[in-house]
Amino acid sequence: MAKKVLGISFGRKMSNCDVMVKHILMECEKAGCEVAFLRADDMNITNCNGCIACTIGTMTGRGRGYCVRHDDFDIMDECLMQSDAVILACPTYETSVTGRFKTICDRIGPSHDITFRQAAYDEGKAAGKPESALPDVRTFKKRTAALISVGGAMTENWIALTLPMMYEFTFPLGIDVVDTVEYYGAMACENVAANFPMMDRMTRMAQNVLDSMNAETEEERIKYRGDEEGICPLCHGRLLQVSHDLKTVDCVVCGSHGNIRIDEEGKIRVSYTPEELDRSRLRWGGKLEHSTEIKTKAQPSGTIKNLKELKQPYADFNRPAFPVDETAYHNVKLNK
Ligand SMILES: Cc1cc2nc3c(=O)[nH]c(=O)nc-3n(C[C@H](O)[C@H](O)[C@H](O)COP(=O)(O)O)c2cc1C
Repeated sequence: MAKKVLGISFGRKMSNCDVMVKHILMECEKAGCEVAFLRADDMNITNCNGCIACTIGTMTGRGRGYCVRHDDFDIMDECLMQSDAVILACPTYETSVTGRFKTICDRIGPSHDITFRQAAYDEGKAAGKPESALPDVRTFKKRTAALISVGGAMTENWIALTLPMMYEFTFPLGIDVVDTVEYYGAMACENVAANFPMMDRMTRMAQNVLDSMNAETEEERIKYRGDEEGICPLCHGRLLQVSHDLKTVDCVVCGSHGNIRIDEEGKIRVSYTPEELDRSRLRWGGKLEHSTEIKTKAQPSGTIKNLKELKQPYADFNRPAFPVDETAYHNVKLNK
């Protein structure tokens, strides 16, 4: 059966993200894949309201891990479930992903976490429930991803948070990222279609995705094929958070804790123990650690007996917005 490749652009219509994703899909189609293209901004996807019904559903076995809201996210989710590979391209807005990208990640978030869904699936199956009452079995399919971040600025420090944040889309489902590109300086070329070296890189990204999907071994399938090894052996990123002791670091994408040193060539190196690598949220162990803490530590409502009383002063405290300053050249449309 033909492999299915889903491309999602979070950029403007026919601008850089669209062109880059479409180029990869065209290459994959030439190679015999079935492809689908979605533009996030064409879809009506509302934000997560934090009700956690998805998580409670899978935790208690009463639900299948779905959001109570029904909008175009259902279409994106169905495409995701059918896909063998996902290509994502996101513009940088204010040094990070766009609001819509984050909205979609929140909707994927806990509801699609494979450790929650696997437990609910296994327990439901053991209890004799039909497939229709269980989390979608397609959740557990091995998938490949390639990520592209785009920024107008001429220096990469202006796109520094975009690529790391793009892992929020892939890690809940355990999708393996095999290639990444940070395209900065985009404003210097009217459209990436005329940036031939970058378009060649997109052709190579398509090949990397195809190679991953067609790999014969799991090791080969998940092999990272990006241009740089980076500093983290799992996500291959370079974004580190210095710990409070100012001696050790965490990989921001993975959450793994490591020791930092300077090698003989003066390069910064971080070493992670195998246990810390297994705590990466890109791996089962890291996700399981988090879903277990939610299952065991999160308190249900009703545990604090006098909570209503404690909250009452805050419920009673309501103040309106500041009145418009009529002496300033404001931008407020007044109903006069
Ligand atoms: C609200 C807003 C904020 C932006 N902030 C940044 C930024 O922090 N860094 C950057 O490199 N580019 C920034 N840009 C430029 C976009 O990343 C750039 O236009 C990009 O090409 C958009 O992707 P698209 O061409 O696929 O639509 C910003 C653009 C907008 C609209």
